[in-house]
Amino acid sequence: MQKAAPIGVFDSGYGGLTVLKEIISKLPQYDYIYLGDNARAPYGNRSFDTVYHYTLQCVQWFFDQGCSLVILACNTASAKALRTIQQNDLPRIAPDKRVLGVIRPTTEVIGNHSESQSVGVLATNGTVLSNSYPIEIAKFFPEIVVHQEACPMWVPLVENNEYSGHGANFFVKKNLTAIFKKDPKIDVILLACTHYPLLRGKIEEYLPVGVKLISQGEIVAESLADYLARHAEMEASCSKNGKRFFYTTDSTEDFDNHATTFFGETIQSRHLDLS
Ligand code: DGL
Repeated sequence: MQKAAPIGVFDSGYGGLTVLKEIISKLPQYDYIYLGDNARAPYGNRSFDTVYHYTLQCVQWFFDQGCSLVILACNTASAKALRTIQQNDLPRIAPDKRVLGVIRPTTEVIGNHSESQSVGVLATNGTVLSNSYPIEIAKFFPEIVVHQEACPMWVPLVENNEYSGHGANFFVKKNLTAIFKKDPKIDVILLACTHYPLLRGKIEEYLPVGVKLISQGEIVAESLADYLARHAEMEASCSKNGKRFFYTTDSTEDFDNHATTFFGETIQSRHLDLS
């Protein structure tokens, strides 16, 4: 049997740390390796092909570290690359390993939060254009109407540490106004990008009263716990020493400075050169 190894958690940049934080709070016993591809972020406006190639390259790196299980804590990568990796690449490169995303666990539960049957999805251009959310939500909640709004400036605001600055207000207000114009009955807003929880304070300022704001961290953590409980062999292949390792493809100094805000703890990252 293969040696037990950490669970891999991947994002284009910092956003996945908001998911990792919740996963660790739910499942602190496991070891985790986080990789942020900050040097090539944001992924949101990139083509399907580019996101697929970047994501596959990072997944392969996790496998080279010995990881058996990798979570794509990025909606854009989950929307544009996950299916191809699961169906075409895994059987060829690593049939015993698994890669899971964040879209499926979210769509399985999102409908339970809405009474008006109208849900608003805020995401990157890539995630919106993939139509993954309307398609997947329809499988579990066919009665729910899904309205999407791409917020292409939100990830750059977060990646550039401007999420609490005054400039963020303009774009948050603009995109929220646009989605409620599509349907004022929306009573649930899903933050379908793992970077967006950092803008939560700003979003709440412009959110109509009574609308529920949902981010994915807890949902994904819950779903991972359930997955590990149902897959004993995979569970056994995940090492359990409570250790965390952080890698970035860009400057470690920048990553460590910004990552603390996302993760809530001091981080000391290592550099990974993928070029
Ligand atoms: N955190 C990624 C997501 O959930 C951000 C994508 C990007 O890099 O644009 O979609």
